Amino acid sequence: MLFKNPNATHAPYPVELAGVLNRETAQKSKQWLSSWPLLNANATPLCSMMGTAHALGIDMLWIKDESKRSKLGSFKALGAPNALINLILKHFPSLDAEKILLGEYREQLADFAVVSATDGNHGRALAAAAQSSGCPCTIVIHAQVSQEREDAIAEYGATMVRITGNYDESVEEADRIAKENGWIVVSDTSYEGYTEIPRDVMQGYGVMAAETAEQLEAQQQIPTHIILQGGVGGLAAGVFSYFWEQYSSNRPTFIVVEPSQANCLYQSAIQGKPASATGSVDSVMAGLACGETSKIAWEFLQPCVDFFALIDDEDAIDAMKQLAHGEHGDKPIVGGESGVAGLALLNKLAKQGQLKEIGINRESSVLVFNTEGATAPALFQELTGLTAQEILVKQVK
Ligand SMILES: Cc1ncc(COP(=O)(O)O)c(C=O)c1O
Repeated sequence: MLFKNPNATHAPYPVELAGVLNRETAQKSKQWLSSWPLLNANATPLCSMMGTAHALGIDMLWIKDESKRSKLGSFKALGAPNALINLILKHFPSLDAEKILLGEYREQLADFAVVSATDGNHGRALAAAAQSSGCPCTIVIHAQVSQEREDAIAEYGATMVRITGNYDESVEEADRIAKENGWIVVSDTSYEGYTEIPRDVMQGYGVMAAETAEQLEAQQQIPTHIILQGGVGGLAAGVFSYFWEQYSSNRPTFIVVEPSQANCLYQSAIQGKPASATGSVDSVMAGLACGETSKIAWEFLQPCVDFFALIDDEDAIDAMKQLAHGEHGDKPIVGGESGVAGLALLNKLAKQGQLKEIGINRESSVLVFNTEGATAPALFQELTGLTAQEILVKQVK
């Protein structure tokens, strides 16, 4: 369940990659998104988890808490709107980027239709960004997307299409209906001949890295290890690229974690090229239940991810409970199924005495990202025994 990537390098951030994703463009995205009323105005918290760090036998654990990004519930609220702004600017170059999500060009955009497949969070973010801008939006979901996740997307006015197949088939269906109707696919995953929009989605995630880098700098800290969860790999590419450029050859060790049964990035590392998952793909970690690697994301991950790791659904559920109940004396956190994967991996490696295999020891400081809150509230309550509201009340005590 742990693979050391033979292609990882600690050389400075390559110029060719900087031409695709870079810190300067991440800052521009940050500026554009700052006018969107759906995002909370403040940076999301970087929580110091001293008690959990102590229990793991490490010096420090930080959790960047994206449950507080917006009422959309996840970090995905940064990706789709950034891609939509870039796309609209490409077609209507005279518009002011900062006014698009304020709905100021609603009339001009009334026929500018977008579509995407999703396993929940990306679709919700795209539906919300499209609604704010005034673009018609269609979202394609697969058989395993729960009714409450579907309702959460439909709330933002999107037309919903449900197929009987899995996530990867919903990506194909979105592509098909886009071609049929002359709509534009705004996907968070890239495939042959489709890279520009997923690049802008990933660049939006760089906003979260930019904020974290500022928060760490204010504490004069640099983590020794950063763990990110992988679905198609866009999140990890968007965030690792930022830190790689920032810290250059002194960058921390980068680790990607996925569900065992949706291991497309792990398989890509073994095969040295974008590959498919070998398992059933279905997982309680709905956002990570992806069977195909994003082509453009892989160009970033192959040269920089030091280790690829796998966890099981029970590991994630245990970590959700741990955060929800504020174990080890740390403040409780609303960590959703896909959000807690980094912590779940640390717990698993600690339990199996394997932390040292990724170079973690008593002096290590580890950064993980809680990428979602209770985005499926009923399931969250069933798994943790608490509602998000109950946890928020405990946070202020
Ligand atoms: C909460 C959450 N975390 C992580 C991810 C993984 O992101 P990516 O598919 O870009 O690797 C997703 C994707 O949907 C998600 O919803």
